[in-house]
Amino acid sequence: MPGVLVTGGTGKTGKALVQLLRGAGVRARAAGRNPAAADPDAVRFDWNDPTTFGPALDGTDRVFLLPPVESVDPLPLVEPFLHQAQRAGVQRLVMLGSAIVLPNAPGAAELAARVRARPGGVVLRASGFMQNFLRPHPLAEHIHRHGEIRTAAGDGRLGWVDARDIAAAAAALLADPGVDARSDYLITGPHGMSYPQAAQIITARTGRRVRVEPITEEEQAAAYRAAGMPAEFAAALAAVERGIKEGREDQVSTAVLELTGRPPRTFAAFVADHAYEWTR
Ligand SMILES: NC(=O)c1ccc[n+]([C@@H]2O[C@H](COP(=O)([O-])OP(=O)(O)OC[C@H]3O[C@@H](n4cnc5c(N)ncnc54)[C@H](OP(=O)(O)O)[C@@H]3O)[C@@H](O)[C@H]2O)c1
Repeated sequence: MPGVLVTGGTGKTGKALVQLLRGAGVRARAAGRNPAAADPDAVRFDWNDPTTFGPALDGTDRVFLLPPVESVDPLPLVEPFLHQAQRAGVQRLVMLGSAIVLPNAPGAAELAARVRARPGGVVLRASGFMQNFLRPHPLAEHIHRHGEIRTAAGDGRLGWVDARDIAAAAAALLADPGVDARSDYLITGPHGMSYPQAAQIITARTGRRVRVEPITEEEQAAAYRAAGMPAEFAAALAAVERGIKEGREDQVSTAVLELTGRPPRTFAAFVADHAYEWTR
């Protein structure tokens, strides 16, 4: 029976996607480096080990593609996988990309172009994840320890989206390989929100006082490196905050509503769902 290979199947988006697909009666194979022994449809998959690609693709006709994380140049690792997926007869391939183009990292945009050009290829350009406000993300760790958001983004707004809504959008495109699809969707939450607004919402909803501490882009890059990110990726990610500050990333779309039939979650609803994160 055909089904969906979910790469990054143990991550925030992939795990929610596997649950949604299985809940809808669609076979979903959860792929990761350490497949769960208790899950009969989990499979070992490692971007650094191309011998894992074939067995993971075997018997699937759709793919959710989560490119190698924290890489400024994913194409060399993903290209052989795309060829193999083509040979295996994959009809639909939905890639999780980013609404924000990382400065000085053209590889991610090149990969997205490659996927869009492929028959059945779809790129979800996701905005910032609300889940960045949950540990172990460095942003959330700092809030937890110091009640502080350190950012170089000023009052700039971003269309923050809940990863569960990204998963729901992906599920709508993958549950039925025949469903009509564009090759590109901007996936955002319902409205733009700045870090000071996020701090205000968390404080109002949970009673945990959260304030914003402005820092420079260089300080942000150093903080990301200290959290274990590779230096090149940390620099590119910190530089994103300049674009947010200048208002270049303040965009929202209706794609979640279009694909799933219901509006995306608000940040206030997300905070209410995870209130334990700030009230303990
Ligand atoms: N956070 C944001 O604001 C944001 C915004 C836009 C786009 N994105 C994109 O979203 C993606 C992250 O998605 P997510 O948050 O759902 O994932 P996540 O929770 O960070 O999980 C990462 C997944 O990747 C898998 N993985 C890590 N290294 C791997 C390797 N070498 N080979 C195979 N699999 C590997 C992990 O599985 P195992 O550890 O089990 O192997 C896990 O399933 C990134 O590509 C990022 O660019 C993020």
